[in-house]
Amino acid sequence: MAASRGEFGSRLGFILAAAGSAVGLGNIWGFPSQVAANGGAAFVFVYLLLAFLIAYPVLMTELAIGRFAKANTLAALQKLSTGAVSRCLSSVFGYLGVAVAAVILSFYGVIAGLMLAQCLTSLLALFAVEPGLLSGTGASIFFTLVFMVLTLAIVLKGVSSGIEAWSRRLMPMLIILLLLLIVIVLNQEGSMLGLKAYLVPDISKLWQGELMLSAMGQVFFSLSLGVGTMLIYGSYINRNESLPELGAWVTLVDVAIAFLAGLLIIPAMYVAMSNGVEIFDADGKLLASSQLVFVVLPELFKSLGSFGTLLSALFFAMLVLASLTSSISMLEVPVATVSEQAGLGRKRAGIVSVCIIGSLSVLLILQGEALFDLAVTASTEYGQPLMGLVFCIYLGWLWQRQSLLKELQQGSPHVADSLFWRLWPAYVKYICPLIILLIFYSSLR
Ligand code: PHE
Repeated sequence: MAASRGEFGSRLGFILAAAGSAVGLGNIWGFPSQVAANGGAAFVFVYLLLAFLIAYPVLMTELAIGRFAKANTLAALQKLSTGAVSRCLSSVFGYLGVAVAAVILSFYGVIAGLMLAQCLTSLLALFAVEPGLLSGTGASIFFTLVFMVLTLAIVLKGVSSGIEAWSRRLMPMLIILLLLLIVIVLNQEGSMLGLKAYLVPDISKLWQGELMLSAMGQVFFSLSLGVGTMLIYGSYINRNESLPELGAWVTLVDVAIAFLAGLLIIPAMYVAMSNGVEIFDADGKLLASSQLVFVVLPELFKSLGSFGTLLSALFFAMLVLASLTSSISMLEVPVATVSEQAGLGRKRAGIVSVCIIGSLSVLLILQGEALFDLAVTASTEYGQPLMGLVFCIYLGWLWQRQSLLKELQQGSPHVADSLFWRLWPAYVKYICPLIILLIFYSSLR
């Protein structure tokens, strides 16, 4: 079976694919809105801290389990199981991961579909065409399904020529576009005020529990943790690669892009404000995050004339690209699991998964906001932390220390002498579960 599994063709390919999974709406849309809603620079500071204290160790957990087992989540957890109970629970958790990935993809596809429509609207506006058809329920369903089909097409090309090749192309393009937009926005009036709000923390806000918990949730979502995505990507890593190093690269790229997205959007908000666009509601609270991207930024682009229209097309194209490298990694979870567990071909598994997930998206669009919010909350606030907890427990409590060390030593022979090795296993065993339980506690309140 191992011989028929895909594998990343190169180190850079893996980094780009895993970073492509991590970088998405969570960074470019979620992170800046959270920064704006949670006290600006204070949130940035806590987020950066938690990325390395929590997200990196959990990411390493998934990558290590994945590469050790060279299998999907379900089979991987089974391989670590020590008795009948943990083996039986492995199936439950394996399919739970698939369900969480499917629900996330179903709402993610809807938002990405809106981005696609917005991108096309701007492109058409460049040619002075004002399409009336790109908004509304029908259009939303149409663009969501287009996005899903694009995702499927890439995933069906397999690991090396599909996911890896596309991430290689899309990720650098994304970074270049982001930098270009930052330079433009920072040259606008009002941007310096935004820069200050983004970079100078208000010390009094730093250690608020709620701020820390939001930052923690954001870091989980942003690094694609707790759905099995990183575990499965880990299973495609060659045994000659150093896992701690690869994990560090992915974390760094993800955090850097979230930081850059903040550097674009927070100053852009202030530029919009100095142009007379409302960004706070009557209570002084930030407008809903969906409005941040769909209302405030288009207003900003509009105020820049036809150059702004071009920027708008580029910006939304960038969001679609970032969403695509994330959505392919979500779809890979059901595809890998169903094809390996049920012996179905990747093509069939992909088509079946997209049909089910696409139907779920249509249901979310037709049912309106309440169901949509429920899907977001259930998957990101409950599903992801629960699965993160499961991975930490399997690695920390079930995996034999010697065998874990052996796995890590492949590709990084000196790991046994490093501080990383001395701290990480115990950290994953005790501290990470504790922190995740804290997230649960906060979301249950
Ligand atoms: N990390 C992605 C983002 O920031 C979202 C994601 C979550 C991707 C879970 C895969 C799995 O947009």
